[in-house]
Amino acid sequence: MAIQWFPGHMHLTKKAIAERIRQTDVVIELLDARLPGSSANPMLADLTAGKPALKVLNKQDLADPERTAQWLAHYNAQPATRAIALDASATAPARTLVQACHALAPTRGSMAKPMRVLICGIPNVGKSTLINTLAGKRATKTGDEAGITKLEQRIVLADGFYLYDTPGMLWPRIIVAQSGYHLAASGAIGRNAFDEEEVGLELLNSLKGPYADLLTARYGIADPAGLNDEDLLDAIGRQRGALLGKGRVNLQKAADIVMHDFRSGALGRITLETPEQFAQWLAAGQVLDAARQVKKDAIEQQRLIKFKKIPRPPRADSA
Ligand code: G4P
Repeated sequence: MAIQWFPGHMHLTKKAIAERIRQTDVVIELLDARLPGSSANPMLADLTAGKPALKVLNKQDLADPERTAQWLAHYNAQPATRAIALDASATAPARTLVQACHALAPTRGSMAKPMRVLICGIPNVGKSTLINTLAGKRATKTGDEAGITKLEQRIVLADGFYLYDTPGMLWPRIIVAQSGYHLAASGAIGRNAFDEEEVGLELLNSLKGPYADLLTARYGIADPAGLNDEDLLDAIGRQRGALLGKGRVNLQKAADIVMHDFRSGALGRITLETPEQFAQWLAAGQVLDAARQVKKDAIEQQRLIKFKKIPRPPRADSA
């Protein structure tokens, strides 16, 4: 079953971004480096109307460095886009962000023409952590100045360089099934919105090919790729003592263990998707989504005809 989850504030956030975007020079999108495609928000491109974009692959300390390099190259090849990798241990994140934004908008950043940067990201991607580090002892304004909307936060990163944080967050409509599972595995989706065993199985499915050695090292299972997902989860549960009565494995607990080990980095540095994989998933997801929409439109049309809101179309053979 595909996962769908919508936190609140969507409307508020869209409105805040639409208001701010006119006076924005660069949009920073914080992505989770372990799932850059799935943690991106496709809606953002429409909302930000072609403004230069800085993709920040955050939590790079947990991600696979080789795949992070692939994603950086992927984004850096896009027009008006730059990408950098970051994590909470970075000693001078402000300097890194300032430099990257200057490269995207070289005419901005003076007192006369300040650099105005908007930062966005889905929940749990590390936005508050980064903003707290950036704000440090610098003045942080919250909506008490002309030009700053209610609840909006403004951080002065350097002279003539302002970072605006929008209230609430944007959440993608999940049209790629794998994205739902990856987001749930990463901790971005509320616990009550998914089935742990199902997400654990999908996580193992993504891990057992590229990261079989890490599974072997952590759980002592000789050939994880040779097992189906159910047997692999069962073997992990058994190995970890996640048992019910009569020697049966508590699969939910086993799934919890795998997810916890992935989230905390105990399994090792992992990235669940490559740019090529994600592009394929997205293309397939868009085809399915379009088919769903056609079906929905047809049902809606039938409803309108039934309640006589629109006339019944002439039959093809009535001419
Ligand atoms: P958000 O505002 O985008 O929702 O995310 P937030 O900063 O609250 O961070 C979500 C979780 O991710 C926090 O962990 C935070 O410590 C962790 N985090 C943020 N940046 C990084 C990073 O670069 N690397 C790693 N490894 N972790 C990062 P938590 O368990 O929810 O809370 P806590 O352990 O900080 O109490």
